[in-house]
Amino acid sequence: MNDMFAIEPIGQIHSPHKNPKETPIQPVFASGIRGTVTVDDAYADGLLDLDGFSHVYLLYRFHRAEQVKLRVRPYLQDEERGVFATRAPFRPNHIGFSVVRLLSIEGTTLHVEDLDVLDGTPLLDIKPFIARYDLRENVRSGWQEEVGDDTARRRGVRDYRSGH
Ligand SMILES: C[S@@+](CC[C@H](N)C(=O)[O-])C[C@H]1O[C@@H](n2cnc3c(N)ncnc32)[C@H](O)[C@@H]1O
Repeated sequence: MNDMFAIEPIGQIHSPHKNPKETPIQPVFASGIRGTVTVDDAYADGLLDLDGFSHVYLLYRFHRAEQVKLRVRPYLQDEERGVFATRAPFRPNHIGFSVVRLLSIEGTTLHVEDLDVLDGTPLLDIKPFIARYDLRENVRSGWQEEVGDDTARRRGVRDYRSGH
């Protein structure tokens, strides 16, 4: 049964990215790009002990993705793929996640690096990156294996350095 439920953001992500087309497509292509995550005061207690982790998952809503598309052309390739075989924003529920470096925490503000997220993005959750749980061996990467590292980097960083 598909019950509806509401999710209330717990904060907001602030980044230098204003234009979706000029925003890197993953943290790995956003190296050194800094921003902040402001967590609402009501959730301050939940930040206890987070400063022991070098990386965190930010879960958020792609609030500027208005459409849902079940087939998309990924940023790295000019072929249609099923949206669930991609990280495209145009998915049902518009949920995104990014593994970013946690630099410091000041009160309810997290200073983070490697942001691939638009400024003003609503934050849904934060989880620590835990190597013991999250690193995998013998990985297959589907259609991504058809894309060379140089092409991925060239397409993935996009234009953020140009300032246009
Ligand atoms: C391919 S998605 C991947 C994002 C995330 N790391 C993931 O795997 O879910 C990255 C692109 O989403 C777009 N984007 C980022 N924040 C967004 C937002 N709040 N609303 C709509 N699109 C957004 C930008 O164009 C960015 O280049």
